[in-house]
Amino acid sequence: MTAPLLKLNDGRQMPALGYGTYKIRGPEAPALIGQAIDSGYRLLDTATRYDNEVEVGEAVRASSVPRDELFVTSKLPGADHGYDEALRSLEGSLDRLGLDRLDLFLIHWPQPPIDKYVETWKAFLRMREEGTVSSIGVSNFLPEHLDRLVEETGVAPAVNQVELHPFLPQREQRAADARHGTVTQSWTPLGRRTELLERPEITETAEKHGRTPAQVVLRWHLDVGAAPIPKSATPERFRSNLDVFDFQLDADDLDRIATLENGHRIGGDPVDEVQL
Ligand SMILES: NC(=O)c1ccc[n+]([C@@H]2O[C@H](COP(=O)([O-])OP(=O)(O)OC[C@H]3O[C@@H](n4cnc5c(N)ncnc54)[C@H](OP(=O)(O)O)[C@@H]3O)[C@@H](O)[C@H]2O)c1
Repeated sequence: MTAPLLKLNDGRQMPALGYGTYKIRGPEAPALIGQAIDSGYRLLDTATRYDNEVEVGEAVRASSVPRDELFVTSKLPGADHGYDEALRSLEGSLDRLGLDRLDLFLIHWPQPPIDKYVETWKAFLRMREEGTVSSIGVSNFLPEHLDRLVEETGVAPAVNQVELHPFLPQREQRAADARHGTVTQSWTPLGRRTELLERPEITETAEKHGRTPAQVVLRWHLDVGAAPIPKSATPERFRSNLDVFDFQLDADDLDRIATLENGHRIGGDPVDEVQL
């Protein structure tokens, strides 16, 4: 089973659910990521900061699934904001991955205190023109950051990857992304297995549908129109995380899950997060 494809605002397509690779690194990682591909994952989400582009690239190159059926995302780290810096940063990512092209490259954080994300975005436009990156996007961009990119360059990101889970459903952010035709992708979609998967709102809904708590949460992402990238280093779990395309939550389920909202972030706040 593979995830259905979503249409992006640049005419390309992206799997509706992908494989997060944060903390999957080291000698066992290529085989594990290879198993995830064999079980149906086509989108692999990495970043320079995860220090695992080498392992992800090794899995992609070793896979029997052709390169053009896989969708590889990486992210530009905070230290590489700036026009020339971004071009050099992409070269580094491609070198480590051993690939000649990324399917999606994201600015990892906007870092408003540094104020170089527009200049960086201009380099991303060039990468897309040159074909070293097929689609360009951002991560952790607030509505005002998206508006500024569009005002200054006329080009909206294909994807905005943000922290999103039932505790932090990001309604306003999703609406802002949608205004630009930008797909919202959910990071930490399972709430990094904090108490989310044990809450009765989730476990009882899972029992009702004969599914696991993680499957209910991932189905919720799809039902609110977001594209999750769950991470699991456990084959049984990553297989079941992909098996969410043959059931649906009803209005009562969605209302009940909506009561979990508490607005708490697990990760950083885009307003002041700077990662140099
Ligand atoms: N753009 C950004 O700033 C940003 C920030 C953070 C993350 N991300 C991306 O988003 C991806 C996902 O986020 P995340 O890794 O933070 O958190 P997550 O996917 O919400 O949660 C991962 C945790 O959930 C566990 N898990 C996975 N499937 C499960 C299941 N079916 N049942 C029970 N537990 C399960 C995993 O355990 P096991 O591994 O032990 O199975 C792991 O401990 C990352 O890997 C990364 O690619 C992006």
